[in-house]
Amino acid sequence: MLDDALDTAPEEWHGEHPIKIEGLVNRFGDFAVHENLDLKVKRGEILGVVGGSGTGKSVLMRSIIGLQIPDEGCIEVFGKDITAAEPDEEIGVRNRWGVLFQGGALFSTLTVAENVQVPLKQFYPELDQQLLDEIARYKVVLTGLPEDAAPKYPSELSGGMKKRAGLARALALDPELLFLDEPTAGLDPIGAAKFDALLRELTDTLGLTVFLITHDLDTLYAICDRVAVLADKQVIAVGTIPELLQTDHPWIQEYFNGPRSRAAATTHEAGKAMDKPRTGKA
Ligand SMILES: Nc1ncnc2c1ncn2[C@@H]1O[C@H](COP(=O)(O)OP(=O)(O)OP(=O)(O)O)[C@@H](O)[C@H]1O
Ligand SMILES: [Mg+2]
Repeated sequence: MLDDALDTAPEEWHGEHPIKIEGLVNRFGDFAVHENLDLKVKRGEILGVVGGSGTGKSVLMRSIIGLQIPDEGCIEVFGKDITAAEPDEEIGVRNRWGVLFQGGALFSTLTVAENVQVPLKQFYPELDQQLLDEIARYKVVLTGLPEDAAPKYPSELSGGMKKRAGLARALALDPELLFLDEPTAGLDPIGAAKFDALLRELTDTLGLTVFLITHDLDTLYAICDRVAVLADKQVIAVGTIPELLQTDHPWIQEYFNGPRSRAAATTHEAGKAMDKPRTGKA
């Protein structure tokens, strides 16, 4: 929609991995969060990113979007080396991703529509207000919010609506890549399942690639194509859940063979057997 409005198609890029990380090292003082971390994200997939609290999931996401300059290593996004640039340097890819940070904070003094317009104004200051309003309204509806949510302030929304509004803002620039840090945290299971279904649907219809940090086992089973596991300062395994279950790392076994995981797997299988999405309607 933006491209139509501005008549500027993004630079063509045909690689298989929109995100490629090699040898990543992140340290805070003497404390290393990542050491020699490698990861490739495939085009069109929802990659679930899991790991214990403090294993560096959010720091990894911040590194990929250039907010955390790594000590060592290379991170390529759409073939461009993010680590070679300053955080505010124009490198032609920053407008090709959308981000929903952990906690998903919307600007509380701005309406939903104004929140969605923040990245638009940042990257396309020439857009007039009428077009900004139109794009914001479209994004709000796209995420399943009623149109009358657009002029509301975050304090007037439920938790689930805030998440959708955050997603609308993340989608503002028609991104090809979406980064979500714990998007369903704090939602009730039904709200979380609806959010998952929405995310899967948007990913498929908009052709997104999604880097999804989550603790939510239902989300992993329901919508993730592959899962990357962070432990021991690295990505120790990436694959489908059945593939991960083949590995004998204790954290993976405990996580995916624990009672909560078995419950999520059972629900997922039951949903498939009934030939309808377990995630409910978006
Ligand atoms: N700006 C910072 N300065 C110093 N240490 C930091 C900073 N940001 C993160 N850390 C540390 O890096 C480690 C990884 O943090 P991170 O936020 O990535 O964890 P996480 O895997 O996202 O955890 P959670 O699941 O709780 O969100 C933690 O020990 C954290 O204290
Ligand atoms: Mg985190």
